[in-house]
Formats: sequence, structure tokens, C-alpha cells
Amino acid sequence: MRIMIVNDYEEMSKKAAHIIASQIVLKPNSILGFATGSTPINTYKELINLYKNGVIDFSEVTSFNLDEYFELSKDNPQSYDYFMKANLFNHINIDDDRINIPNGMTDNIERECAEYEKKMKEAGGIDLQLLGIGRNGHIGFNEPADHFQSDTHLVQLDDDTIEANSRFFDSVDEVPTKAISMGIGSIMRAKKILLFASGTGKAEAIYDTVKGPITPRVPASILQLHPDVVIIADKEAASRL
Ligand code: PGA
Repeated sequence: MRIMIVNDYEEMSKKAAHIIASQIVLKPNSILGFATGSTPINTYKELINLYKNGVIDFSEVTSFNLDEYFELSKDNPQSYDYFMKANLFNHINIDDDRINIPNGMTDNIERECAEYEKKMKEAGGIDLQLLGIGRNGHIGFNEPADHFQSDTHLVQLDDDTIEANSRFFDSVDEVPTKAISMGIGSIMRAKKILLFASGTGKAEAIYDTVKGPITPRVPASILQLHPDVVIIADKEAASRL
């Protein structure tokens, strides 16, 4: 693991965007794994700037998102499909046919998950996977559990995650309780992983990820076994290291 400690959210976002941009410059047809939440917002803004300034071109890029709420339609502003369009895809030249996000409205969850895995494999695997981290150490929506879930699957969200994500909804009762998420295996198969975190709320999760034992109680701790992980943490998120 390579740990980069930066001053604040702004610096974290710029560094993350520059790593993603280098990936695209070096391999224009990269397969990128994208994340949602508060952490990536300014990274995506910086990527949009780099695109508008002619530094990067998304025309050959393929994307796979980590997760999507179950039974929330794409038109719902809280869906991750909506988030990705609003915060990135509508502002860059990525081809719609190369965008992949799990379909939370599927009527066949097993088929949806199996097809998502198959598409990732057929695309040649993810070159660079971007990851946020939950306060409870989750990556994607892989919540603390007794064992690591390998492939894309339906997840029951933790109370802590529902509470953390309720800030985006009118009330906690509106937060979906389930989601489709890439599994730990899907994430670990990515060739490179970039995890980023900002703020004191993530300090314990970052400490456990980097210094703690590898355990499914802290899903991100498995990243210690991945050969190519970069963690960008701002001073607050790194304060316990
Ligand atoms: P956040 O979420 O970026 O909104 O903090 C990260 C996560 O839960 O993985």
C-alpha cells in the first residue's frame, strides 16, 4: 500500500483526479471503476476541467460503478445512476454504451449480478478502481460481516450506512435498505486501486484499513493484500496513523 497524506479535501481531490487522468492518458481505452458519495465530487469536477482543457479524452473509456441502491429508479435524484450523470457523465465525452451501473430496478437480482460480473470480465477487468470508504470500513457497499463476499451481490445496508446516507434524503425512512454492490472479489480483481478519504469521521476506518488485522469486520482491510493500492487521505482522515 502506498499512503499519500495531503492537507485537505481540495488537495485530495486534485491528486486523485491527476492519477485517474494519467491512467487515461497512458491507456485511452481504460476500464475505470467509479464510486459515488461525497468524497468523489470534487475529483469529478477536476476531471471535467481536465477534459474541457483538452488534457483527457473519455471517448474510449469504459466505466463500471461500484454499486446502486436496490429498487430506486434511475430518475430518482438519489440513485447513483443520476449522481454519475449529474456529477460526471453529462459533462464529458464518455460513450453512453460504455457506461455500466448495476440496475437497481431489476426483477432478477441473480441474473443482474451475474451479468455485471460477466461484463467486467469480458471488458478485460478494471484497470483502475476508485474507492471511498465508509465510517465502518465498508468499500462499495460491502458492509462489515463474518466473511468476505466475493462477487456482485445484493446487500442489506448497515444501520450506520443508512444513517450516514440519510443526509441526502428528506428522512432516514426514505433511504433504501438494500443495494447491489460489487463484491470484495470484484474489487480485488482490479489491476490498480485508488482509495481516498477526507475528514475525521474516516480516521478510524483508515487506521483499521492500514494498520489493523485483515478481517471482514473491516472490509477495506483486505486491500493490504492487493499489490497496487494507493490511499490518499487528508490530514484529518490520516490523523490516527
Ligand atoms: P462518502 O461515502 O464519500 O459519502 O463519505 C463513502 C462510502 O460510504 O463509501
